[in-house]
Amino acid sequence: MKNRQLAQKLYIKTYGCQMNVYDSGRMADVLAPLGYTLADTPEGADMVILNTCHIREKAAEKVYSELGRLRRLKTAREKQDGRMILAVAGCVAQAESEEILDRAPFVDMVFGPQAYHRLPELLARLKRAGKAVLDTDFPPEPKFDYLPKDVPEPGAAGTSAFLTVQEGCDKFCTFCVVPYTRGAEYSRPAEDVIAEAARLVAAGVREVTLLGQNVNNYHGAEPAGTETWGLGRLIRELAETDGIERIRYTTSYPADMNDELIATHGEVPELMPFLHLPVQSGSDTVLKAMNRRHTADDYRRLAGRLRGARPDIGLSSDFIVGFPGETDADFAGTLGLVEEIGFVQAYSFKYSRRPGTPAAAMDAQVPETVKNERLEVLQDVLNAQQLAFNRSCVGRVLPVLLDRPGRKPGQLVGRSPYMQAVHVDDPIEGPGAIVRLVITAAHANSLKGVVEIREAGAGTIGERVTA
Ligand code: 5AD
Ligand code: SF4
Repeated sequence: MKNRQLAQKLYIKTYGCQMNVYDSGRMADVLAPLGYTLADTPEGADMVILNTCHIREKAAEKVYSELGRLRRLKTAREKQDGRMILAVAGCVAQAESEEILDRAPFVDMVFGPQAYHRLPELLARLKRAGKAVLDTDFPPEPKFDYLPKDVPEPGAAGTSAFLTVQEGCDKFCTFCVVPYTRGAEYSRPAEDVIAEAARLVAAGVREVTLLGQNVNNYHGAEPAGTETWGLGRLIRELAETDGIERIRYTTSYPADMNDELIATHGEVPELMPFLHLPVQSGSDTVLKAMNRRHTADDYRRLAGRLRGARPDIGLSSDFIVGFPGETDADFAGTLGLVEEIGFVQAYSFKYSRRPGTPAAAMDAQVPETVKNERLEVLQDVLNAQQLAFNRSCVGRVLPVLLDRPGRKPGQLVGRSPYMQAVHVDDPIEGPGAIVRLVITAAHANSLKGVVEIREAGAGTIGERVTA
């Protein structure tokens, strides 16, 4: 049957992690049958969704300033006899629920990360009730079962796509809101994941990044249904899928890195030699207060085992400075660990007090000035490591998945196995191709390369072409 719905414009602004990016895509999928197509700006949109992040205070506050701006657009639209439905989704919606409607009464819908499959129903309720609707329940059924199963339009999913395989977290790190906003751990059945991967491949995707808050603790039902598969097994299966050239996964919890997954790094060439494995701190006292179930030495050993399986693996991490009670000696422990491990890339944050989490109520909160100093020192070291790694790539041949146009005419930007952005002026091939580039220059956040002129017997990832 032909779609008789009126064409409507939908604008989604996404904050925070990759899972929010994935969720925003699914919101667009759920709304497409109602006639909504994506717009690039909120101006003139019939519906605006802010898909929010609650992980740090700054991320949450940004939402309220954006809502202030959108209110003006909404009022202007109403003056022209139009309507703009304004929705707040994601983790701020989950955590603050009605408070959002108190603070921003012009908002029409508030729904959490577990409710977006019910969007059509929420819209219907909004039309019927004529007042704001709220849905921040954790439903008994997994939302993934209710998402559309259409193959995306060719090219619509890009060359590299996210695929959520696991959601939620039972770890309760004392600083973190995720167990409260995303709920308990849930792994999607392997069959669903494989089917979604096949749909992405049919739309032209060549790289999938498997997502989960604790993705390496994946334990989804196997296709036969009696046992569960770990992430290593799932990756091996996906690597066999025609068209999947590259696999990544994020984010991992150190204590859940199991033998099979580590072995997979050595045995499955499609699995990229890059791993985001947050350690948070290099001090055992702080790690304990954070309720992390690993020590700094556990992390050192783990890095060693990963490098044993895949010597060219690049490690990335998250760090928090200024966790309550963190002393100069604790912070020195973090710096020491960073020096020892050597990260190819990392994110670091000042501890942000999140209401309702155990650490927010701890004594010995660290003054802002101290947090600022520590963050600057840590970021200097991490940036230097990243630059050194990028420079070490000059002269190497890296396979780069071409992805999107660069700023210069004819230029393309792609990703190396290590997630570095690589610019190539004369790419020869188009987006979606994996080309072997000789790296010619390195910057803080990107590389430059030229297409390798291959001679017989030229080698594989990371081979040096100059002595
Ligand atoms: N304050 C600062 N950083 C935090 N993170 C999570 N919660 C907080 C917080 N309260 C960081 C952690 C995590 C990353 C996604 O965000 O480092 O790994
Ligand atoms: Fe948050 Fe810790 Fe769970 Fe990661 S493992 S999502 S930091 S509670």
